[in-house]
Amino acid sequence: MVDRSTLSRETLLQILDRARWAPSGDNTQPWRFEIVGDDRVVVHGHDTRDEILYDFDGHASHMAHGALLETMKIAASAVGLAMSWQAESDSEWRRIKYMVTFTPSAEIGIDPLSECVEQRTVQRRPMKIGSLSATQRQALIKAAGGAFVVQFFEALSEKKSIANLLWDNAHIRLTCPEAFPIHQSIIEWGAQFSKDRIPEQAVGVDPATAKLMRWVMQSWRRVEFFNRYLMGTIAPRVQLDFIPAIMCSAHLLIKPNVKPSCLEDWVALGGAMQRVWLTTTLLGLHLQPEMTPVIFRWYARAERKFSERPEFAAKAFSLAGQFERIAGASDQQAFGFFCRIGVSSIPKSRSVRLGLDELLSR
Ligand SMILES: Cc1cc2nc3c(=O)[nH]c(=O)nc-3n(C[C@H](O)[C@H](O)[C@H](O)COP(=O)(O)O)c2cc1C
Repeated sequence: MVDRSTLSRETLLQILDRARWAPSGDNTQPWRFEIVGDDRVVVHGHDTRDEILYDFDGHASHMAHGALLETMKIAASAVGLAMSWQAESDSEWRRIKYMVTFTPSAEIGIDPLSECVEQRTVQRRPMKIGSLSATQRQALIKAAGGAFVVQFFEALSEKKSIANLLWDNAHIRLTCPEAFPIHQSIIEWGAQFSKDRIPEQAVGVDPATAKLMRWVMQSWRRVEFFNRYLMGTIAPRVQLDFIPAIMCSAHLLIKPNVKPSCLEDWVALGGAMQRVWLTTTLLGLHLQPEMTPVIFRWYARAERKFSERPEFAAKAFSLAGQFERIAGASDQQAFGFFCRIGVSSIPKSRSVRLGLDELLSR
């Protein structure tokens, strides 16, 4: 417990050092920290929408900001501090200042999720099939909070439908020219750990496929040739999409009760995502986000294109319908976060983070 006299830069550094373990799309860490007082931090949030097509209007980054703020709050609870924040932003939510204030609180208890902050990670490899218990399901529903509905897909027939959805979705991902530079730049080849990207060994393919992918992904011409004449999308789709979709306990779809319409709504979604993810860790489970079908649906339902090639808009539109049929949802229903969870050993490879010294802007 910290009293006001011991609220110091050191305490804030300790909180930030833990919070930087929050997840972000492709490990982009779209935030920098500024300590402006013994009880105050400014988080400078940015997004990657101009470089990464998956960051639709910056919303994947806004969700990451939400995960970061939630993690700061959890880390603050471990030292007896309550936390609150307010955002200041430009009209497009590209550059956001989150003004964060910490206050000593006698009532605050240590958030049980605190022990999982550094342990939580992505599992992209197949997991065990065993079903979830009623207690686990309840804990995950509670973790998301009252503003969200958590839908579970656990039956084999549902997993098969999702495997097909991910299979079709991956065809867009792997053949769309605009996605290529992203995939080329986000993997740190040959690495077990990566502080600002995804290390090759955490991608989820076997070493031979990884070697081939590394060679093919050196140029778009190679990718096109390989896809067209050598069925190049098959091996990655089997290993990264189809098999993992079956090999898990459940897929989870987090649906906001009200369609997100302001920055704070996207940040809240990111906070719910992080609480669900940390809860899976606390329950001894692992999780992998499956966000690209959600993101292509955002494009489709907003009638926005992500590729110069018109066939991709049509494919995303059809995929959105496929996803809605599986979820029994209308085209108006908001989808927030989609993932699979299950039991597995701890991944040997993972993304790590930029050092606190690199994240402190001043
Ligand atoms: C909004 C968001 C979307 C993500 N989408 C995916 C995804 O579609 N597939 C995937 O394998 N990982 C996805 N991730 C996981 C990130 O790649 C991962 O959190 C990041 O690389 C850091 O790794 P760590 O979570 O193991 O620390 C997503 C994470 C966030 C926050």
